[in-house]
Amino acid sequence: MRIVITGGAQGIGFATAEILSQENHDIVVVDKNSDTLKKAKEKLGCETVNIDITNEHDVSEFFESISEIDALVNNAGIWIQEHLSEMSLAKQQEVVDVNLMGTLYCTKHALPRIKKTSSSVIINLTSAAAKTNSPGLGLYAATKAAIETLTRQWALELSPIRVNAVGPGLIMTEGTAENYRGKARELRANAVPLKRVGDASDIADVIKFLISGEARYVNGQILYIDGGLTAGSAGR
Ligand SMILES: NC(=O)c1ccc[n+]([C@@H]2O[C@H](COP(=O)([O-])OP(=O)(O)OC[C@H]3O[C@@H](n4cnc5c(N)ncnc54)[C@H](O)[C@@H]3O)[C@@H](O)[C@H]2O)c1
Repeated sequence: MRIVITGGAQGIGFATAEILSQENHDIVVVDKNSDTLKKAKEKLGCETVNIDITNEHDVSEFFESISEIDALVNNAGIWIQEHLSEMSLAKQQEVVDVNLMGTLYCTKHALPRIKKTSSSVIINLTSAAAKTNSPGLGLYAATKAAIETLTRQWALELSPIRVNAVGPGLIMTEGTAENYRGKARELRANAVPLKRVGDASDIADVIKFLISGEARYVNGQILYIDGGLTAGSAGR
């Protein structure tokens, strides 16, 4: 399959590109960071495209320039921790632009290129934060809740293309590494029923499944991959 992965230069996107490359899929990694993208290209030997998904013109031009694809993984996302009382609206606008509008631009402009069969797939990245409503995460959780709504909506609108979302819990990536320094890792691990934080391959393996024929009847679903974090609290 030919698969476009946004934000694939590091973290969950990179792990997904790596695992899918090992399955002999043809991967196109899109990312705005040219340095990490270059390293990803060296490691994976796949096609890479250096664009910012908040630039609709560039997104549209990119999809116009490529041949047919079978899958799109809308993985690029950012988060900015800010309590409402101290929030910089300009910074939070960026969260909306990348997570929500970026996903929308990529999906809309990818559509003419995605084969119209039920083996074609769109995977969106939501977050356990959409369900747990973490204080201080600003608009992040709200953008991910919107992604969940769009996932179900697109599953209806875009049939026979299957549209699903995965919602990672506490996952160590380059983007979140700061949150796991020192004691923080153990504290966070203890909050998870499986007693460990996840790594990027925990998410990539599920994306691989959702893209595969084994998930041929899975459509319009939100799948949290969080070691049980969103199941509730055991310690009452
Ligand atoms: N890591 C976690 O704990 C976690 C938890 C829940 C959800 N998620 C979601 O998973 C996805 C990946 O998270 P991660 O931890 O791997 O992130 P990360 O920060 O490690 O990597 C994100 C990648 O996206 C790229 N990117 C960011 N903005 C972009 C833009 N405008 N255009 C193109 N590329 C852009 C970055 O350059 C980077 O390579 C995100 O959507 C995130 O919200 C992550």
